[in-house]
Amino acid sequence: MLKPPPASSIPPLPLAGRRLTPRRPLSRELFAANGMSRTGALDLASGVGGKITKDEVKSAVDDYEKYHGYYGGKEEARKSNYTDMVNKYYDLATSFYEYGWGESFHFAHRWNGESLRESIKRHEHFLALQLGLKPGMKVLDVGCGIGGPLREIAKFSLTSVTGLNNNEYQISRGKELNRVAGVSGTCDFVKADFMKMPFSDNTFDAVYAIEATCHAPDPVYLN
Ligand SMILES: C[S@@+](CC[C@H](N)C(=O)[O-])C[C@H]1O[C@@H](n2cnc3c(N)ncnc32)[C@H](O)[C@@H]1O
Repeated sequence: MLKPPPASSIPPLPLAGRRLTPRRPLSRELFAANGMSRTGALDLASGVGGKITKDEVKSAVDDYEKYHGYYGGKEEARKSNYTDMVNKYYDLATSFYEYGWGESFHFAHRWNGESLRESIKRHEHFLALQLGLKPGMKVLDVGCGIGGPLREIAKFSLTSVTGLNNNEYQISRGKELNRVAGVSGTCDFVKADFMKMPFSDNTFDAVYAIEATCHAPDPVYLN
Protein backbone atom coordinates (compact mmCIF):
# COMPACT_ATOMS: atom_id res chain seq x y z
CA MET A 1 0.00 0.00 0.00
CA LEU A 2 1.15 3.57 -0.64
CA LYS A 3 2.80 5.05 2.38
CA PRO A 4 2.45 8.83 2.82
CA PRO A 5 5.81 10.60 3.04
CA PRO A 6 6.72 11.90 6.51
CA ALA A 7 5.37 15.45 6.89
CA SER A 8 8.91 16.75 7.44
CA SER A 9 9.97 15.62 3.93
CA ILE A 10 7.26 17.70 2.18
CA PRO A 11 8.73 21.09 1.24
CA PRO A 12 6.57 24.17 1.90
CA LEU A 13 4.86 25.65 -1.20
CA PRO A 14 5.22 29.36 -1.97
CA LEU A 15 1.73 30.82 -2.62
CA ALA A 16 1.07 34.49 -3.35
CA GLY A 17 3.81 35.62 -1.02
CA ARG A 18 2.77 33.21 1.77
CA ARG A 19 4.42 29.90 2.51
CA LEU A 20 2.00 27.06 3.22
CA THR A 21 2.98 23.64 4.52
CA PRO A 22 0.86 21.03 2.72
CA ARG A 23 -0.92 18.70 5.08
CA ARG A 24 -0.17 14.99 4.89
CA PRO A 25 -2.57 13.38 2.38
CA LEU A 26 -5.16 11.00 3.80
CA SER A 27 -4.88 7.42 2.59
CA ARG A 28 -8.20 7.67 0.73
CA GLU A 29 -6.84 10.66 -1.22
CA LEU A 30 -3.80 8.64 -2.22
CA PHE A 31 -6.01 5.81 -3.49
CA ALA A 32 -8.17 8.32 -5.35
CA ALA A 33 -5.06 9.91 -6.85
CA ASN A 34 -4.03 6.68 -8.52
CA GLY A 35 -7.57 5.81 -9.53
CA MET A 36 -8.16 3.03 -7.01
CA SER A 37 -11.06 3.15 -4.59
CA ARG A 38 -10.40 2.40 -0.95
CA THR A 39 -12.62 -0.67 -1.26
CA GLY A 40 -10.57 -1.76 -4.26
CA ALA A 41 -7.34 -1.50 -2.34
CA LEU A 42 -8.72 -3.42 0.63
CA ASP A 43 -10.11 -6.10 -1.69
CA LEU A 44 -6.72 -6.48 -3.32
CA ALA A 45 -4.96 -6.68 0.01
CA SER A 46 -7.32 -9.42 1.18
CA GLY A 47 -7.12 -11.26 -2.16
CA VAL A 48 -10.86 -11.02 -2.96
CA GLY A 49 -11.40 -12.14 -6.53
CA GLY A 50 -7.80 -13.25 -6.90
CA LYS A 51 -7.02 -16.36 -8.92
CA ILE A 52 -3.28 -16.83 -8.74
CA THR A 53 -1.84 -17.96 -5.42
CA LYS A 54 1.53 -17.01 -4.02
CA ASP A 55 2.87 -20.51 -4.74
CA GLU A 56 1.76 -20.32 -8.37
CA VAL A 57 3.55 -17.04 -9.12
CA LYS A 58 6.98 -18.47 -9.84
CA SER A 59 5.74 -21.18 -12.22
CA ALA A 60 3.53 -18.63 -14.02
CA VAL A 61 6.54 -16.30 -14.48
CA ASP A 62 8.69 -19.20 -15.73
CA ASP A 63 5.99 -20.34 -18.18
CA TYR A 64 5.43 -16.79 -19.42
CA GLU A 65 9.15 -16.20 -20.00
CA LYS A 66 9.47 -19.41 -22.01
CA TYR A 67 7.22 -17.89 -24.67
CA HIS A 68 9.68 -15.10 -25.38
CA GLY A 69 12.61 -14.92 -27.74
CA TYR A 70 15.09 -13.99 -25.06
CA TYR A 71 14.57 -17.44 -23.55
CA GLY A 72 14.50 -19.18 -26.94
CA GLY A 73 10.72 -18.91 -27.49
CA LYS A 74 9.34 -19.02 -31.02
CA GLU A 75 6.74 -16.71 -32.54
CA GLU A 76 4.67 -19.72 -33.68
CA ALA A 77 4.60 -21.03 -30.09
CA ARG A 78 3.37 -17.65 -28.86
CA LYS A 79 0.68 -17.51 -31.54
CA SER A 80 -0.57 -21.06 -31.07
CA ASN A 81 -0.56 -20.71 -27.26
CA TYR A 82 -1.83 -17.11 -27.16
CA THR A 83 -4.59 -17.90 -24.64
CA ASP A 84 -2.19 -19.34 -22.09
CA MET A 85 0.47 -16.70 -22.70
CA VAL A 86 -1.91 -13.71 -22.45
CA ASN A 87 -3.71 -15.13 -19.41
CA LYS A 88 -0.41 -15.78 -17.60
CA TYR A 89 0.57 -12.19 -18.24
CA TYR A 90 -2.69 -10.72 -16.90
CA ASP A 91 -2.86 -13.13 -13.95
CA LEU A 92 0.48 -11.72 -12.88
CA ALA A 93 0.06 -8.08 -13.85
CA THR A 94 -3.56 -7.17 -13.10
CA SER A 95 -3.20 -6.30 -9.41
CA PHE A 96 -0.19 -4.10 -10.17
CA TYR A 97 -2.11 -2.35 -12.97
CA GLU A 98 -5.06 -1.73 -10.69
CA TYR A 99 -2.88 -0.50 -7.85
CA GLY A 100 -0.77 1.86 -9.90
CA TRP A 101 -2.94 2.78 -12.88
CA GLY A 102 -6.57 2.46 -11.82
CA GLU A 103 -9.53 0.45 -13.09
CA SER A 104 -9.01 1.34 -16.77
CA PHE A 105 -5.98 -0.22 -18.42
CA HIS A 106 -5.48 2.14 -21.34
CA PHE A 107 -3.80 5.42 -22.12
CA ALA A 108 -5.21 8.68 -23.44
CA HIS A 109 -3.79 11.94 -24.75
CA ARG A 110 -3.24 14.18 -21.80
CA TRP A 111 -3.63 17.95 -21.80
CA ASN A 112 -1.45 20.24 -19.71
CA GLY A 113 -2.93 20.40 -16.24
CA GLU A 114 -5.07 17.31 -16.73
CA SER A 115 -4.61 14.39 -14.32
CA LEU A 116 -4.08 10.84 -15.61
CA ARG A 117 -7.52 9.88 -14.32
CA GLU A 118 -9.23 12.86 -15.98
CA SER A 119 -7.58 12.12 -19.32
CA ILE A 120 -8.71 8.48 -19.20
CA LYS A 121 -12.31 9.41 -18.36
CA ARG A 122 -12.36 12.05 -21.11
CA HIS A 123 -11.17 9.45 -23.59
CA GLU A 124 -13.96 7.05 -22.52
CA HIS A 125 -16.61 9.80 -22.76
CA PHE A 126 -15.28 10.76 -26.20
CA LEU A 127 -15.57 7.14 -27.33
CA ALA A 128 -19.19 6.94 -26.10
CA LEU A 129 -20.03 10.13 -28.01
CA GLN A 130 -18.27 8.94 -31.16
CA LEU A 131 -20.26 5.69 -31.02
CA GLY A 132 -23.48 7.69 -30.73
CA LEU A 133 -24.55 5.74 -27.65
CA LYS A 134 -28.08 6.44 -26.45
CA PRO A 135 -29.78 5.38 -23.20
CA GLY A 136 -30.91 1.76 -23.22
CA MET A 137 -28.55 0.58 -25.97
CA LYS A 138 -26.73 -2.75 -25.62
CA VAL A 139 -22.99 -2.41 -26.03
CA LEU A 140 -20.06 -4.87 -26.19
CA ASP A 141 -16.60 -4.07 -24.79
CA VAL A 142 -14.12 -6.46 -26.45
CA GLY A 143 -11.20 -7.31 -24.14
CA CYS A 144 -12.63 -5.38 -21.21
CA GLY A 145 -9.99 -5.80 -18.48
CA ILE A 146 -11.55 -5.37 -15.03
CA GLY A 147 -14.25 -3.19 -16.55
CA GLY A 148 -13.13 0.37 -15.75
CA PRO A 149 -14.10 1.67 -19.22
CA LEU A 150 -17.38 -0.24 -19.33
CA ARG A 151 -18.53 1.14 -15.97
CA GLU A 152 -17.64 4.69 -16.98
CA ILE A 153 -19.25 4.40 -20.42
CA ALA A 154 -22.39 2.74 -19.01
CA LYS A 155 -22.83 5.51 -16.43
CA PHE A 156 -22.03 8.28 -18.93
CA SER A 157 -24.40 7.04 -21.66
CA LEU A 158 -27.00 5.11 -19.59
CA THR A 159 -26.34 1.99 -21.64
CA SER A 160 -25.95 -1.70 -20.72
CA VAL A 161 -22.43 -2.84 -21.40
CA THR A 162 -21.23 -6.46 -21.60
CA GLY A 163 -17.52 -7.02 -21.12
CA LEU A 164 -15.92 -9.83 -23.10
CA ASN A 165 -12.72 -11.17 -21.61
CA ASN A 166 -10.78 -14.40 -21.58
CA ASN A 167 -9.19 -13.83 -18.19
CA GLU A 168 -10.99 -15.39 -15.26
CA TYR A 169 -9.30 -13.31 -12.57
CA GLN A 170 -10.14 -10.03 -14.30
CA ILE A 171 -13.77 -11.07 -14.66
CA SER A 172 -14.09 -11.98 -10.98
CA ARG A 173 -12.50 -8.66 -10.07
CA GLY A 174 -14.74 -6.81 -12.56
CA LYS A 175 -17.91 -8.35 -11.11
CA GLU A 176 -16.93 -7.22 -7.64
CA LEU A 177 -16.20 -3.68 -8.88
CA ASN A 178 -19.51 -3.60 -10.81
CA ARG A 179 -21.27 -4.49 -7.57
CA VAL A 180 -19.45 -1.73 -5.66
CA ALA A 181 -20.25 0.79 -8.45
CA GLY A 182 -23.94 -0.23 -8.46
CA VAL A 183 -24.03 -1.27 -12.14
CA SER A 184 -24.42 -5.07 -11.71
CA GLY A 185 -28.03 -4.83 -12.87
CA THR A 186 -27.11 -3.42 -16.29
CA CYS A 187 -23.53 -4.51 -16.93
CA ASP A 188 -22.11 -8.01 -17.02
CA PHE A 189 -19.17 -10.07 -18.23
CA VAL A 190 -18.80 -13.01 -20.61
CA LYS A 191 -15.72 -15.21 -20.45
CA ALA A 192 -14.71 -16.01 -24.03
CA ASP A 193 -11.99 -15.61 -26.62
CA PHE A 194 -12.53 -12.63 -28.93
CA MET A 195 -11.18 -14.77 -31.80
CA LYS A 196 -14.31 -16.94 -31.39
CA MET A 197 -17.06 -14.59 -30.26
CA PRO A 198 -20.06 -16.46 -28.83
CA PHE A 199 -22.71 -13.95 -29.95
CA SER A 200 -25.18 -14.12 -32.79
CA ASP A 201 -25.41 -11.23 -35.27
CA ASN A 202 -27.17 -8.06 -34.08
CA THR A 203 -26.89 -8.90 -30.39
CA PHE A 204 -25.39 -5.45 -29.73
CA ASP A 205 -26.11 -1.91 -30.90
CA ALA A 206 -22.45 -0.94 -30.66
CA VAL A 207 -19.07 -2.60 -30.12
CA TYR A 208 -15.73 -1.15 -29.09
CA ALA A 209 -12.30 -2.41 -28.07
CA ILE A 210 -9.66 -0.42 -26.20
CA GLU A 211 -6.04 -1.56 -26.34
CA ALA A 212 -7.04 -5.24 -26.39
CA THR A 213 -6.93 -6.54 -29.96
CA CYS A 214 -3.15 -6.02 -29.98
CA HIS A 215 -3.19 -9.47 -28.30
CA ALA A 216 -4.91 -11.15 -31.26
CA PRO A 217 -2.69 -13.82 -32.85
CA ASP A 218 -4.17 -12.85 -36.22
CA PRO A 219 -5.42 -9.23 -36.28
CA VAL A 220 -6.58 -9.56 -39.90
CA TYR A 221 -8.91 -12.46 -39.03
CA LEU A 222 -10.30 -10.49 -36.07
CA ASN A 223 -11.17 -7.49 -38.25
C1 LIG B 1 -4.52 -3.79 -21.91
S1 LIG B 1 -5.93 -4.70 -21.37
C2 LIG B 1 -7.20 -3.51 -21.80
C3 LIG B 1 -8.44 -3.74 -20.99
C4 LIG B 1 -9.57 -2.73 -21.17
N1 LIG B 1 -9.93 -2.55 -22.56
C5 LIG B 1 -9.21 -1.41 -20.53
O1 LIG B 1 -8.90 -0.47 -21.28
O2 LIG B 1 -9.23 -1.31 -19.30
C6 LIG B 1 -6.18 -6.01 -22.63
C7 LIG B 1 -7.37 -6.91 -22.33
O3 LIG B 1 -7.63 -7.77 -23.44
C8 LIG B 1 -7.99 -9.06 -22.92
N2 LIG B 1 -7.74 -10.08 -23.94
C9 LIG B 1 -6.56 -10.36 -24.54
N3 LIG B 1 -6.69 -11.35 -25.43
C10 LIG B 1 -8.01 -11.73 -25.41
C11 LIG B 1 -8.77 -12.70 -26.11
N4 LIG B 1 -8.22 -13.50 -27.03
N5 LIG B 1 -10.09 -12.78 -25.85
C12 LIG B 1 -10.68 -11.98 -24.92
N6 LIG B 1 -9.99 -11.03 -24.21
C13 LIG B 1 -8.67 -10.91 -24.45
C14 LIG B 1 -7.09 -9.21 -21.71
O4 LIG B 1 -7.52 -10.26 -20.85
C15 LIG B 1 -7.21 -7.81 -21.11
O5 LIG B 1 -8.35 -7.72 -20.33
